[in-house]
Amino acid sequence: MLATRLSRLLSQLPGKTLSMYDREHGARRPLLFCSASFIPVSRTYAGEVDPVGSKAVLVTGCDSGFGFSLAKHLHSKGFLVFAGCLMKDKGHDGVQQLDSLNSDRLRTIQLNVCSSEEVDKAVELVRSSLKDPEKGMWGLVNNAGISTFGEVEFTSMETYKEVADVNLWGLVRTTKSFLPLIRRAKGRVVNIGSMLGRMANPARSAYCITKFGVEAFSDCLRYEMHPLGVKVSVVEPGNFIAATSLYSPESIRATAKKLWDGLPDIVRNDYGKKYFDEKIAKVENYCNSGSTDMTPVIDAITHALTAATPYTRYHPMDYYWWVRMQIMTHLPGAISDKIYIH
Ligand SMILES: NC(=O)c1ccc[n+]([C@@H]2O[C@H](COP(=O)([O-])OP(=O)(O)OC[C@H]3O[C@@H](n4cnc5c(N)ncnc54)[C@H](OP(=O)(O)O)[C@@H]3O)[C@@H](O)[C@H]2O)c1
Repeated sequence: MLATRLSRLLSQLPGKTLSMYDREHGARRPLLFCSASFIPVSRTYAGEVDPVGSKAVLVTGCDSGFGFSLAKHLHSKGFLVFAGCLMKDKGHDGVQQLDSLNSDRLRTIQLNVCSSEEVDKAVELVRSSLKDPEKGMWGLVNNAGISTFGEVEFTSMETYKEVADVNLWGLVRTTKSFLPLIRRAKGRVVNIGSMLGRMANPARSAYCITKFGVEAFSDCLRYEMHPLGVKVSVVEPGNFIAATSLYSPESIRATAKKLWDGLPDIVRNDYGKKYFDEKIAKVENYCNSGSTDMTPVIDAITHALTAATPYTRYHPMDYYWWVRMQIMTHLPGAISDKIYIH
């Protein structure tokens, strides 16, 4: 009864519907909550903020992957782009490619999100590059991230901390440091989460807990920033590993060796090498099965930065993962575990 009333109320609110991203048509497909079912309905994007010409955006993790492509894409849209690169000082290939554009609207900067010193320097550099620092900076895209795999018993405390240092604490640090500039512009914060920040997966605990943390942090920030005119969005990509450098066959092999060599004897003996190798084969399979086209992710981030009414969450992922995420997050664990985990 309550659910039906709530559904009716929700379906009468334009722009307040649950929605997913349609990569083919560049449009959102809102899902109206009708009684017990979700019905996909087409809707086009909201109007965009205009013009982007003078707007400054900082993206973290631009050496490769989403960050690298996004920096180039935002530059092509007319933004002033500050591309934070972990390896600028070491002359990373991606950094050289961005620098070779020779544009005064695309500046690579050395930025390790785990270093307060480097983050502070980045804030100063951006502030001093703005025409009018009192008008602030339009956008921050927290994209830098690392990943790993391994069952809970296979994963060392050092690994848990290492992944959280970049994906969670690095994101929190960078956000806090840039907020004074973002607030002045009534701008945007776009956090790159993951579908694994909504639903967990076996052998991914070190990564999942950081991405669940990103979701919680983003929600709190969105609530707090709303009265100040700053909009906060989370982009939750599905499996695009084949399109980025998050994993490579070499890094999987290296991580597997490190895991096995570092296991306590009791864990190694209890699970055995056969079990371990089967799990690694599953990871390899997952990494080879993702989408090779990262356009949906780049489009979602761009929408979050430019639309007058950006969405709270974006779901650039294929239908298999989207359906799985709905089932994992809406059905009782006893059912969803049976379907997808056991
Ligand atoms: N690919 C996917 O399927 C997928 C799915 C969901 C979410 N994501 C998220 O998307 C984001 C981008 O990942 P990606 O897939 O594009 O992988 P990627 O190609 O490995 O890009 C990640 C970038 O972050 C940089 N980075 C790592 N540690 C850093 C640090 N301490 N400070 C600053 N930058 C750092 C990396 O630099 P180096 O290259 O120099 O190491 C790299 O440029 C991550 O947050 C990831 O969790 C990816």
